[in-house]
Amino acid sequence: MSVFRIQGGQRLSGSVAVQGAKNSVLPILAATVLARGECVLRNCPPLTDVEYTLDILRHMGCGVKREGGTVWVDASVPTDCVIPDELMREMRSSVIFLGPVLGRMGRAELTYPGGCELGPRPIDLHLAALRTLGAEIEERNGRLICQGELTGGSITLSLASVGATENAMLAAVAAKGTTTITNAAREPEIVELQEFLRTLGADVRGAGSSVIVIEGGKPLHGGEHTIRPDRIVAATYLSAVACAGGEGELLGVDWRQLSTVTAALVEAGCQVESGSDSIHIAVQEPLGAVRPLRTAPYPGFPTDAQAVVMAALCKAQGATVFVENMFESRYRHVDEISRMGADIRVEGRVAVVCGVPRLFGARVQATDLRGGAALVVAGLGAEGETVVSGTRHIRRGYGDLAGDLRALGAKIWLEEEIVI
Ligand code: UD1
Repeated sequence: MSVFRIQGGQRLSGSVAVQGAKNSVLPILAATVLARGECVLRNCPPLTDVEYTLDILRHMGCGVKREGGTVWVDASVPTDCVIPDELMREMRSSVIFLGPVLGRMGRAELTYPGGCELGPRPIDLHLAALRTLGAEIEERNGRLICQGELTGGSITLSLASVGATENAMLAAVAAKGTTTITNAAREPEIVELQEFLRTLGADVRGAGSSVIVIEGGKPLHGGEHTIRPDRIVAATYLSAVACAGGEGELLGVDWRQLSTVTAALVEAGCQVESGSDSIHIAVQEPLGAVRPLRTAPYPGFPTDAQAVVMAALCKAQGATVFVENMFESRYRHVDEISRMGADIRVEGRVAVVCGVPRLFGARVQATDLRGGAALVVAGLGAEGETVVSGTRHIRRGYGDLAGDLRALGAKIWLEEEIVI
């Protein structure tokens, strides 16, 4: 069993380049299914979720090669439209394959993704969008069987879901005619997906706004793309410096995508300076509490940054209120951070963090990706040794968390621990 071992309570100092974004690379890899030529993706982060996605592509009969951060996918002749249960279980976001596989092959089969560590994660909006484009979808013994020749249509999402927007875009690119997606999610990852689809020759407009228009049905060719830096990983490293104190520079990040996170950290007393593709943070004084932080779709405060920013504010003087509006079970890190001396009370979707003067190192268990990263952030600001188990959750989204934090001056190692 591997653990992160942290010697906390030391100020940080250093700089680190931020990895490519998990939430960009996954839909872009799914999009390669639509291309009748080779796609080359650079700056792919070394994540287990990326490996599972490549396994799905291999299973479908695509040629897949990976060398360092570069991945080649050749979907000239996909042969299998069935995604096996074991790959679906490894990664719930594999539902993103539904749209492109159906669009390319006229049929897609996968297991119904059930609940996950963030609470129930329905896919009703994904299915409704595909039905609007003419898909016939049947559920048989927990399997989803989707078929039909897709044609353009008018999709209105009742909620601006990131995954449903991406699935709808990927299906619409293959559907003949015009598709309009109204109330589309506006996350930067959607804009990046549009950019990649255009590289393949697709006609997609409007990503980044709430209406996306797609002229679909043209065969797509191969193309190249470099995955953009991960704004949530950047938020994690900013939170790490905020919690431990000191200073740090993040390279290759777009500060505009992080403005709600940096605004909160500045309000807490951090000094943040943004360059054209870098952010510098310095923390000299103890932090103070901030006004309520409410998670919301982009450009609001990201739900994925809630846990790490909460960890950073555990020692801030005063009380900070968090309101989690996106997912039901997103406070699972709270009990574990409390073992380190934090004072956090949760009621429903609200968490109140009352700042304590010190956190103490402890053995804690990660139960989800961002909550696990929050335990590491808290460990950096805690006195003594913290050991974080459940690292497999964290490694779904951070390619080399320990290495990156060491570059920022932290004492943290990923170790194998022998359980007797
Ligand atoms: C994506 C991100 C995830 C992030 C989330 C919200 C990826 C791979 N994951 O997840 O890191 O936390 O956006 O920013 O990009 N919903 C429905 N029905 C649906 C789909 C969603 O009710 O069919 C609800 C969800 O339960 C949730 C809300 O919509 O309450 C937002 O979810 P969504 O935007 O779809 O998140 P994901 O795409 O799963």
